[in-house]
Amino acid sequence: MPLSSPNINVLVKACRKASKTLIRDFGEIENLQVSLKGPGDFVTASDKRVEKILITELQLARPKYSILSEEIGLIKNDEEFRWIIDPIDGTANFLHGIPHFGISIGLEHNKEIICGIIYDPIKNEMFIAEKGNGSYLNNQRMRVSSRSELKNCMIVTGGPRHDAENRELVLEEYKNFSSKVSVPIRKMGSAALDMAYVAAGRCDGFWQRNLNYWDVAAGIILVKEAGGYVTDFEGDENYIENKNILVSNSKINEEMIKILK
Ligand code: IPD
Ligand code: CA
Ligand code: CA
Repeated sequence: MPLSSPNINVLVKACRKASKTLIRDFGEIENLQVSLKGPGDFVTASDKRVEKILITELQLARPKYSILSEEIGLIKNDEEFRWIIDPIDGTANFLHGIPHFGISIGLEHNKEIICGIIYDPIKNEMFIAEKGNGSYLNNQRMRVSSRSELKNCMIVTGGPRHDAENRELVLEEYKNFSSKVSVPIRKMGSAALDMAYVAAGRCDGFWQRNLNYWDVAAGIILVKEAGGYVTDFEGDENYIENKNILVSNSKINEEMIKILK
């Protein structure tokens, strides 16, 4: 049975509306790629356009909720409920005309994410979840994978940025993981979709440092409701504060933590 609730319906409507602009803008990128100026400014403007549509829609439906969104920052209102928005996750892909990016929105209630959506407009894949009601991909229930041997797992990560303080450490972690798996580690360029793919059982585990709350907010509930684990690198729940996140199916979580330690 598809997931439907007042908050989910608000999220779906906002995403569908914003995705029209996102798809149209993505179509322009190819032309801009060959222009002298390149698509940089256009992408920044597109990010803001998409964010504006999302915020307008969400405010219309829930005027009292607070909002934390990547480009605009915090819109302070109600203390209890807050939307956490990343209008385009996977901007570098978008900029290069690579069709792998998405809109990500989580809803916080008293600091806990209670529902979320990650929408890949190009593949028309909508990942949604609500606390207690499961995770869905286009109306089909999702479950994390059941692979228990890390060596057979599909592991995904991102980073490091060229200017990351802990760049060497991140590369070290990458080397450690890469020596443990037979399928080479994926780097697909959208942390939100990486988490959605773990929820869908396509990937078995994901780890990454230096992520912001809007990158992971929706993914948290998607993975949890699909039966997966969300922790920091110590196995604790401080992943938002310390910005290091590890998500996986329930079988390989401990082994992944061991590698990161
Ligand atoms: C980025 C993506 C990327 C991750 C970066 C994020 P953005 O978000 O999620 O996969 O490696 O750390 O900043 O900039 O495309 O919204
Ligand atoms: Ca973004
Ligand atoms: Ca992001």
